[in-house]
Amino acid sequence: MFTQSSRLVELIVFLYLINQIVSKVEFTNIKCTSLDTDFTDIDYCFLKSVNRSYKYLSLKIKLFKTPITKVKVNVELMKRYSGYKPFLYNVTVDACQFLKNTKSNPIAFYLHGFFREFSNMNHTCPFDHDLIVEKLSVDRINRHVTEVLPFPTGDYLFRSNWIAYDINRAKVDVYFTLS
Ligand SMILES: *[C@@H]1O[C@H](CO)[C@@H](O)[C@H](O)[C@H]1NC(C)=O
Ligand SMILES: *[C@@H]1O[C@H](CO)[C@@H](O)[C@H](O)[C@H]1NC(C)=O
Ligand SMILES: *[C@@H]1O[C@H](CO)[C@@H](O)[C@H](O)[C@H]1NC(C)=O
Repeated sequence: MFTQSSRLVELIVFLYLINQIVSKVEFTNIKCTSLDTDFTDIDYCFLKSVNRSYKYLSLKIKLFKTPITKVKVNVELMKRYSGYKPFLYNVTVDACQFLKNTKSNPIAFYLHGFFREFSNMNHTCPFDHDLIVEKLSVDRINRHVTEVLPFPTGDYLFRSNWIAYDINRAKVDVYFTLS
């Protein structure tokens, strides 16, 4: 709890020092990969541009061994220089613990805020259904990024590893650009 809070403070201070305010987030690609097809499979995972102003991402991850009572999510933010390099975050959150009290972890709370309203991952464990993020709009992401924190411009990879019972079962990579 203490370390999480101080990391968040460090992050905010760092970003203010950089002092580059993002004007725009653009998704460039999304890739979902099952790392254990007996446990999970990707039903769909895509970016869609409806028109110039409305773009979203959707994904559905099937779970074959429900109910699931132990989940960790590892999130790595990477920024592209020559190749993607770790950038600021590499955090692992015990999702079941977090969902019991979402205010207990400020970084996880912020990250969950990206998709909470667009997803069925909005309740406490166990999970006895497929996992869905439906029509998470670029606008929503933009607001969440720019209203909360200034961020340096560039190409980023937001990688999440979905770890059930201490085995990494799936990976979701979202590529985006801040300009
Ligand atoms: C883009 O599509 C959305 C959803 O169909 C619609 O509400 C919006 O008016 C469209 N915008 C433009 C500029 O066509
Ligand atoms: C991030 O942390 C995980 C778990 O501690 C580790 O396996 C992984 O190698 C780390 N990633 C990077 C890029 O350092
Ligand atoms: C969780 O998300 C589902 C699907 O979007 C929705 O039907 C449900 O009301 C939400 N539950 C909570 C507690 O927000």
